[in-house]
Amino acid sequence: MAFSLFTKNKKAWIERCRDDYATKMRLKYAPYYHSMDAQKGTSVTLDGREMIMLSSNDYLGFSFHPKVMEAARAAVLQWGTSTTGARPSNGSRGFHLELESALASFLGREACHIHSAGYLSVMTSVTTFAQKGDLILADKNLHSCLWDGIRLSHASVERFSHNNPEDLREVLASANPDAPKMLVVEGVYSMEGHVARLPELVALAEEYNCFIVLDDAHGFGVLGHQGRGTVDHFGLNEKVDLICGSLSKSLASTGGFVAGTSEAIEYLRTHSKQTIFSAAIAPSQAAAAKTALELMQSEPEHLDRLWKNTRRYVAMLKGLGLDTWETDTPAVPIVLGTRELAYRFWSALMEKGVFTVMSIAPAVPPGKDLIRTAISAMHTDEQLERVGEAMAYAVKSL
Ligand SMILES: Cc1ncc(COP(=O)(O)O)c(C=O)c1O
Repeated sequence: MAFSLFTKNKKAWIERCRDDYATKMRLKYAPYYHSMDAQKGTSVTLDGREMIMLSSNDYLGFSFHPKVMEAARAAVLQWGTSTTGARPSNGSRGFHLELESALASFLGREACHIHSAGYLSVMTSVTTFAQKGDLILADKNLHSCLWDGIRLSHASVERFSHNNPEDLREVLASANPDAPKMLVVEGVYSMEGHVARLPELVALAEEYNCFIVLDDAHGFGVLGHQGRGTVDHFGLNEKVDLICGSLSKSLASTGGFVAGTSEAIEYLRTHSKQTIFSAAIAPSQAAAAKTALELMQSEPEHLDRLWKNTRRYVAMLKGLGLDTWETDTPAVPIVLGTRELAYRFWSALMEKGVFTVMSIAPAVPPGKDLIRTAISAMHTDEQLERVGEAMAYAVKSL
């Protein structure tokens, strides 16, 4: 009886879930939520088959580095598994401060705050500092967490064409001159692999007095001296107000960071709901990220290997006539243009033992349906050889 009452009252919600087209398609074609049985570096086991992981964000390959694994283990033994609390209340520990101080000094910033997800850090970098009455200038291809931060801030937003300073200039020229302005960009765009045209964007931001927030989730560890990121790559450290990013890519952990002036970070600690009402990052996560950060400085060979692998891989894809959307980085899309072609290509790679991720509109702009691949320093020459054979097979399957 209770159940029929429930179904009657909740009918709209039940139907919404049951009849959802996107969910039905996802379950029918099953391209997502594959659960690996085992992993050793870039080799994973899926349904009993060994496969090459070609879509992870473990750019420097630190997730299986013995020192990173040992640091995470030691942190659990020393601090337990969780702080079970938010930073302003019972969740702050010495290891948080140590990682924040190490990240701030690596990035040439006064201060830094870390969160348990990059999504939180990036979202809060916008939403905490923008408010109703402000104007946000946003690249059209921003990551979902930046859009969420924009929406939640209640500021007005104007979009400009992806990585296009000329279009940004036009938007700025017609904007209300009195509104406080924030420019929101990524350092390296996660789907496209494009490096932001930062020198031109920053010059415009200066001209129009914009506060700059830069999400460097995919530039950190990949670009700049020892992997300091996109801002360092262009020598623009004094010009970008906030750098935020993720610990779950080059730093081989889970979590995120926001780095800026002490004033900005203290303001964030006072006002950011994502900081105040969410549990602090776990001891093992902080320890893994801190050790990975140290390795970025003491073992430069991983960054060298990442770029060597990337050059080889992109050249191989171009040799096969594939469209890599002019990527400049180890985040390498293979644009197929329609969801049917993307699915066929993805299936052929799966058949040949190469694990990738398909991204289709609306996650990417219309006509840009793609396979998102990413190179790691951990990929071996033999693996890249096998990837090349699988790619050739997938091209034939189109
Ligand atoms: C550009 C960008 N920003 C932020 C995030 C969020 O990071 P996390 O996965 O650590 O929550 C991602 C993750 O994919 C990303 O690609």
